[in-house]
Amino acid sequence: MPGVRGPSEYSKEPPRHPSLKINAKAPFNAEPPRSALASSYITPVDMFYKRNHGPIPVVDDIEKYHVSIHGLVESPKQLSMAEIRKLPKYNVTATLQCAGNRRTAMSKTRTVKGVGWDIAAVGNATWGGAKLSDVLELVGICKLTAATQLGGKHVEFISVDMCKEESGGPYKASIPLSQATNPEADVLLAYEMNGEILNRDHGYPLRVVVPGVIGARSVKWLDSISVNAKECQGFFMQKDYKMFPPTVNWDNIDWSTRRPQMDFPVQCAICSLEDVAVVKERRITISGYAVSGGGRGIERVDISVDGGKTWMEASKYQKSGMQYIADDLNSDKWAWVLFKAEVDIPDNAEIIAKAVDSAANVQPENVEVIWNLRGILNTSWHRIRVLNASQVALSNL
Ligand code: MTE
Repeated sequence: MPGVRGPSEYSKEPPRHPSLKINAKAPFNAEPPRSALASSYITPVDMFYKRNHGPIPVVDDIEKYHVSIHGLVESPKQLSMAEIRKLPKYNVTATLQCAGNRRTAMSKTRTVKGVGWDIAAVGNATWGGAKLSDVLELVGICKLTAATQLGGKHVEFISVDMCKEESGGPYKASIPLSQATNPEADVLLAYEMNGEILNRDHGYPLRVVVPGVIGARSVKWLDSISVNAKECQGFFMQKDYKMFPPTVNWDNIDWSTRRPQMDFPVQCAICSLEDVAVVKERRITISGYAVSGGGRGIERVDISVDGGKTWMEASKYQKSGMQYIADDLNSDKWAWVLFKAEVDIPDNAEIIAKAVDSAANVQPENVEVIWNLRGILNTSWHRIRVLNASQVALSNL
């Protein structure tokens, strides 16, 4: 696309909010402070985590920008932004979560490879754009198609950005055609985030949003779409973002033995306290987020202040003035719920949060049992150690 892209260099990065916690500078990877995260149901754009594998590309001529759709389709096409905007527009509120969310805590058990993240590599936004199922109809693929006449079964998204893991080639990922052509799966080609034009950090001018699936498949800065017989063979599908058992290490790993991770499992975290907290009041309000993949709702968030001996249920909410009911038509099925619980803090408290989704999946008790060498999907119970006054005095000695 000559004239469309400026050079991608780290010197051309966009401005960012000063309170973001930077986990890596180049490529830029940052998350908001945990206290800011659960303060609103919709995460403000500047407070939304940013996860990149290369420099942020410069797409500077929107008139010339187009997405080409090719591969095993009857009628390949190039679509301009104007043509994409002409399609019916959908606003889908969906939580994006990096598979590496809570990796730092997993690394404390045994070292893992990857950018360290606290609990805020996750955010909830309203994405505006065209449904992928409508876009694919323009190249002759009907809704709810699992295979094209020419044998296409996977939809690969190829980006504008360049990453070292792809030997300088573009970031890419794919999803099954059956998901891409299912209007109910709400896969979007999004040009808006929270009602604003998508900004450079989050994929300007166009990104894929695959709700309920790890963030890695929501390709930013979309360049082209290819309908293929096989799933994407790129690095991030084949040699990364796969979940291995704790016995696999860098000496015995065989990447081909596992499928690329798609849906994310049930997750929750407390945002109102740091992992080691000093609590002055006896009665406090604990708050955080809970979310599950695949469109499953959150049935329960359980809170314990005594290390898991006794539990109480937190209250959950999404939109103000509306009761949250898991899997109700009025709930945002792809979005997190925020939770709150008022608790009395005993001496030597260990506060725990664990969520249960609408399929009764529950978070694992310990991180050890889900440890994996890439440190993905740390969904273990979130634990906060509360220091009392005498412990604080001792730790200050
Ligand atoms: N798309 C491109 N082109 N390049 C990337 O580096 N990172 C992926 C995904 N899409 C990435 C990408 C990962 S791992 C995640 S978690 C999400 O984008 C993060 O999206 P965000 O930065 O908008 O939060």
